[in-house]
Amino acid sequence: MPTPLAQVSAAGLSDRFRSVRQLSLELITELQPEDTVVQTMPDVSPSKWHLAHVTWFFERFVLEPHLNDYSRFDDQYHYLFNSYYNTAGQMHARPKRGLLSRPTLAQVLDYRSYVDTAVQHLLQTDDSDEQVMQLITLGLQHEQQHQELLLTDIKHVFSCNPIRPPVSRTLAVAPSKAIVPYSYANGAAGIHLIGADGNGFAFDNETPRHNALLHEHQIGNRLVTNAEYRAFIEDGGYESAELWLSDGWAVINERAWNRPLYWNESFDSEFTLGGERDIDGNAPVCHVSFYEADAFARWAGARLPTEFEWELAARKHTSKGNLLESQHWHPVASTGQQYFGDVWEWTSSSYAPYPGFKPLDGSLGEYNGKFMCNQMTVRGGSCVTSRDHIRASYRSFFYPDARWQFLGIRLAKDGHGR
Ligand SMILES: [Fe+2]
Repeated sequence: MPTPLAQVSAAGLSDRFRSVRQLSLELITELQPEDTVVQTMPDVSPSKWHLAHVTWFFERFVLEPHLNDYSRFDDQYHYLFNSYYNTAGQMHARPKRGLLSRPTLAQVLDYRSYVDTAVQHLLQTDDSDEQVMQLITLGLQHEQQHQELLLTDIKHVFSCNPIRPPVSRTLAVAPSKAIVPYSYANGAAGIHLIGADGNGFAFDNETPRHNALLHEHQIGNRLVTNAEYRAFIEDGGYESAELWLSDGWAVINERAWNRPLYWNESFDSEFTLGGERDIDGNAPVCHVSFYEADAFARWAGARLPTEFEWELAARKHTSKGNLLESQHWHPVASTGQQYFGDVWEWTSSSYAPYPGFKPLDGSLGEYNGKFMCNQMTVRGGSCVTSRDHIRASYRSFFYPDARWQFLGIRLAKDGHGR
C-alpha cells in the first residue's frame, strides 16, 4: 500500500477502534429510529445507512480478506451498504437509500456489534500484520468522515421537517464576541513543498508531496462573517450578474437562491443542529456554495485562496479551533485565525491529482482518485470534524453547487501589501 498510514501498536489501534466506533453511536443518542431512515436529497444519506456503510467497509476490506473463516453477517448487506466501489460489486442506488426501512436500526446496530467483535478478534490474533493495521486505520478515518456526514445530513433532514426539531438539545451556544477587522498577511512567493509530510495518517489524495509554485499573495486573517455576507446580499450581490461565474449565475437563478442555505427570509435566524437560532453577525457564514463564495470574494475586491496558498498559511497555525469536540456543532465568532474547524473553506483550486499521484491498490483505489473531475477542493475541517481528523494537508472536495456541508469563505489577494 503506497500511502503512508499511521504507525501504531495493535493495542493502541484496538483502543482507537473502540472509541471511534463508540462515537458514532453517541452521535445518534438523541435520534429516534424514524429519524435515521429519511433521505431528503440524493446527497443526503440516512443516519442508519451511514452506520451500516462504515461497518460494511470493515467487513468488506478488512474482515473478508484477512480474518480466516469469517462469515458475513448478512449477504444482502453487501449490496445495500456498498457506496460506490464498482470493483467490489453491484450496489443499491444512492438516491434510493431512504427507501430502506429494512434492515431496521436495531439490526444495523447488531451488525455493528458483530463486526466490532470480529475486528477486535483480528487485532488480537494478527497484530504482526502491518497491512491489516493500515486497513483498520483507513477504516477508522473513513468512519470519521461519515460521522461528519451523518451530522450534516441529519441537519438537512430535520430542516425539511416543518416542526424543525433540534438534532441535539445539549449543544453549547457560544456567546457572540467582538472580532478583529478583516486584514491580510503576505504569503511568500516561490517554490514550496505541498502535501502530506509522511508523519501520521494521510489519504492518498494528499500525496505525493511535491513542489508547487506560488506567486506573491495575501491571505485573509479570518473567515468571512454572517454580517459581511449579509452586506453582500443587501448590496444586491445576488442580482449582479457581473459578480458571478456563468454556471453560478445559472444555478442561483434556476434555484432562486438569494441567501445561504438555512437562513430565513428576513436574514435574522437560521436552522442549526441545535434548532432555529438567531444569526450571530460575527460568526463565520456557512452553507454557501463555491459559486456564492466566489461571487462574494469578487464583490469584496478579493478572490478565494488556492489550496496551496491555504496549506502554506495553515501550516503556521497549529491551534485547532471549533471542532466536533467543542460541542457547538455550529461556527462561532472568534478572534483566532480559524484555519481549522468552524467551516470547510472553499479554495479556487479544482480537485485534481498531485503530480505523480497513485491511487491505493485494488478496490480502495476508488476511494478518492475517481472523483478528481468537476469538483473544487475545500480545506480546514468544520465544527463537526473530529479534532484528530484534520491537518494542513487534508483535502476534501465538493461540487461547486453543494452547500449542505459546513462550507464557508476565506479571502485572498494577489501581490503583497505593505
Ligand atoms: Fe464511505
